[in-house]
Amino acid sequence: MENQEKKLLDLCEKVVANGQLNKDEIRFLFDCPDELSQLVFDAADKVREREMGNQVHLRGLIEFSSYCSRNCMYCGLRRDIEGLQRYRMEIPEIVKCAVNAEKLGYRSVVLQSGEDPYYTAEKIAEMVSEIKSATDLAITLSAGEFSYRGYKLMRDAGADRYLLRFETADRELYKAIHPDSDYDERIECLHMLRELNYQVGSGFMVGLPGETTETLVQNILLLKTLDVDMAGIGPFIPNPQTPLADAKGGLLLTTLKAVAMARLVLRNIHIPATTAMGSLDRLGRQKALKAGANVVMPNVTPMQLREMYQLYPNKICLTDDPAHCRNCITGIITSLGREVSQEHGHSLKLYSKSTRSKEKESHE
Ligand code: 5AD
Ligand code: SF4
Ligand code: FES
Repeated sequence: MENQEKKLLDLCEKVVANGQLNKDEIRFLFDCPDELSQLVFDAADKVREREMGNQVHLRGLIEFSSYCSRNCMYCGLRRDIEGLQRYRMEIPEIVKCAVNAEKLGYRSVVLQSGEDPYYTAEKIAEMVSEIKSATDLAITLSAGEFSYRGYKLMRDAGADRYLLRFETADRELYKAIHPDSDYDERIECLHMLRELNYQVGSGFMVGLPGETTETLVQNILLLKTLDVDMAGIGPFIPNPQTPLADAKGGLLLTTLKAVAMARLVLRNIHIPATTAMGSLDRLGRQKALKAGANVVMPNVTPMQLREMYQLYPNKICLTDDPAHCRNCITGIITSLGREVSQEHGHSLKLYSKSTRSKEKESHE
């Protein structure tokens, strides 16, 4: 056996057993040659099975507003894109969409939007409490940065989780691609969410311009420092309508490695097989589910709106209705020998933290 392969196998065996990897070892695994990456995926798959079981959790994604006041360089909803047809769903329509998701067998929904000033924290809180009274769904919010007061309002209204990716752990890169956001404020938001007892999701894009292996290593370590409950990782897909139109974009293989590393290092967190991975490669989500992922977030946004919510081009499911996607995803999950979970899919970490013992009572 080649020396490098032997070293890789030993390291995989070690990390499957105890999850301890130092920075150099994380870098070594990221740098492994493509033809050996399957070993890392297999190790992550083993850890996923042991820590999370064979059940895959579904979160129905409701994209409720495509307006955004920010100008992130990579995003198809950025403020400066002129002539983009935008929409807002009103609360009754959103509640209807959530009720429909529950009828389709979802136990959890993600309410996502651009940073739309029309949707104040008060309004989102109202949306959350209406969905909570109409359904038994767990609710994740993904609507960007708010003040502590704002996050508290939404949490008090019943929101269970919040997704806010840090996008990259490289400050300089963060600054270069976020002309109107601040890295420290982003991280501060993640601390506030934790403080408020949200189940916290963060994550990053793979393949941003200027990114190196070191960036990816730092991304994984930051997930660990933040002690996230969920990690969303997807390839950056250049959008022709943005200033990064000509960038190269992320590769599926590198993204799969990042998913696998998140599983190996963070152990029992929820990791989605992201839509962006499915958009880059027809089998992207399946491959992610076999490299550490245990969650899928099918779209439940009404079909006629989907076309107007494109962060990146070639997004999948644009012409499929929610019922179709629901069936499609069951097919994908069962074909992999896995099961669709019937549970809410709360964080497994939640229950082992004494500071959150009250939480436990309210979720049971
Ligand atoms: N390619 C891939 N992912 C993107 N996102 C935004 N724009 C793109 C793009 N062009 C991701 C960001 C954001 C999430 C909602 O979508 O990571 O946090
Ligand atoms: Fe707005 Fe989010 Fe897109 Fe940035 S990534 S422009 S905040 S929708
Ligand atoms: Fe939408 Fe497969 S998940 S068509």
